Amino acid sequence: MARTTVQEALANTSVGAEIEVKGWVRTFRSNRFIALNDGSTINNIQAVVDFEKIDESILKQINTGACISVKGELVQSMGKGQSVEIQANAVEVLGSADPEEVRKTIMQPKKHSLDLLREQAHLRFRTNTFSAVFRIRHAATIAVHEYFNKNGFYNIHTPIITGSDAEGAGEMFKVTNLDLNNPPKTEDGAIDYSQDFFEKETNLTVSGQLEAELAALALSKVYTFGPTFRAENSNTSRHLAEFWMIEPEVAFNDLDDNMDLAESFLKYVIQYVLDNCKDDLEFLNERFVKEEQAKPKLERSEMSLIEKLNSVVDNNFVRLSYTEAIEILRNSKPNKKGKFKFPVDGWGVDLQSEHERYLVEKHFKCPVVLYDYPANIKAFYMRLNDDGKTVRAMDVLFPGIGEIVGGSQREERYDVLKDKMAAMDIEEKELWWYLETRKFGTCVHSGFGLGFERLVQFVTGMGNIRDVIPFPRTPGKAEF
Ligand code: 4AD
Ligand code: MG
Repeated sequence: MARTTVQEALANTSVGAEIEVKGWVRTFRSNRFIALNDGSTINNIQAVVDFEKIDESILKQINTGACISVKGELVQSMGKGQSVEIQANAVEVLGSADPEEVRKTIMQPKKHSLDLLREQAHLRFRTNTFSAVFRIRHAATIAVHEYFNKNGFYNIHTPIITGSDAEGAGEMFKVTNLDLNNPPKTEDGAIDYSQDFFEKETNLTVSGQLEAELAALALSKVYTFGPTFRAENSNTSRHLAEFWMIEPEVAFNDLDDNMDLAESFLKYVIQYVLDNCKDDLEFLNERFVKEEQAKPKLERSEMSLIEKLNSVVDNNFVRLSYTEAIEILRNSKPNKKGKFKFPVDGWGVDLQSEHERYLVEKHFKCPVVLYDYPANIKAFYMRLNDDGKTVRAMDVLFPGIGEIVGGSQREERYDVLKDKMAAMDIEEKELWWYLETRKFGTCVHSGFGLGFERLVQFVTGMGNIRDVIPFPRTPGKAEF
């Protein structure tokens, strides 16, 4: 007999059929009602056992956490809360779970803190919240590929090990197989990387952008979707040391086209999740509303999770230059009252997340795209404007998240790029190949990076980025 998934069984099309369902016991009440879940849906199926038919030794093993198989007839349910249930004829214990041990874990059916769930990341897939989050993460992944495929983009796998620092920020994890206790040295006492595996210094990638640009300057429309590593020591609810980034790169697109692409892409993925993850979203929506109610009134979201998602899909993002944003912030109440940790006193300062969140959550109350930032707070590859002091950068800011996308029109002019690299101490010897594309048929092109976990945070309403990736990597944490 082929296994029926819980989702299929609950779809209620095979009432009267003999089926077999396998899964993990959530609860077992009154020696009679098993709530069984196999991860195919947030909903459990109820299996009703007749304790006279089932062996005593088996009944004893039907505990929370145990893996079982249930065979029986799918029938219309008399009880409340479910439309169908299984009248169990046979129960087999596939993997038992000692109730004493289970009680010490997050499988024990009661409310646990997210901190505790993180410490037991190997078991948190078994909880409603995390199974919902990871099913939605999957749906969002599919939506990303579907969007680009439908729109004529090619997926490019860019390298994970690289010799360059794409962002020029020096936040890299080294890759080496030298003996750290006894590394080979050059005559002047420095580590001799010419004897390392790649015969040069290498690190884990901080972005696939530079390689994606090479591909875009031949295939026109490309995107990457891969792991990205940043050794920045920021212990926040928005930063991971290992995260997944989606980076489209398009030849012939200028910054306006780039903003259009980001907006249409974000809306597509959010709409896809709204359309395809109804049960999980409803569950997370309820959770979100409860969490918000526990917050002080000023910090509370005015909308439920589902309302927030619909509002992003249904409304245009506001587009605003950095200079305009600074004016709004300078004249804002919190700035005048000294409420910002970083006061906004003039043009040129980098925006902090408190500023981004003020613009999005208090001033405009919708996603905001900021563009034309001061050149000296942005990366070397962004196209210099004619004013000589701003670059064609753009950041998309989302409510509750802050920066979700960062991108730009690229500097396509060979001489300007070369000068900028020199001025910003970017080593030409590491990036000769990047510069070379500006010599052979260069053209206007643009792209951006979307932090996938920040998007999953937004669509699931989870407050901490560590709770939307199965095994988070953060300072001091690399368990599992
Ligand atoms: O703004 P960033 O640093 O831009 C780039 O890496 C460009 N090369 C992208 C491009 O133009 N192709 O990063 C892009 C996005 C951010 O907006 C943020 O959503 C996410 O990546 N991000 C992080 N997400 C989680 N943890 C971190 N430590 C992140 N750093 C950036
Ligand atoms: Mg950025």
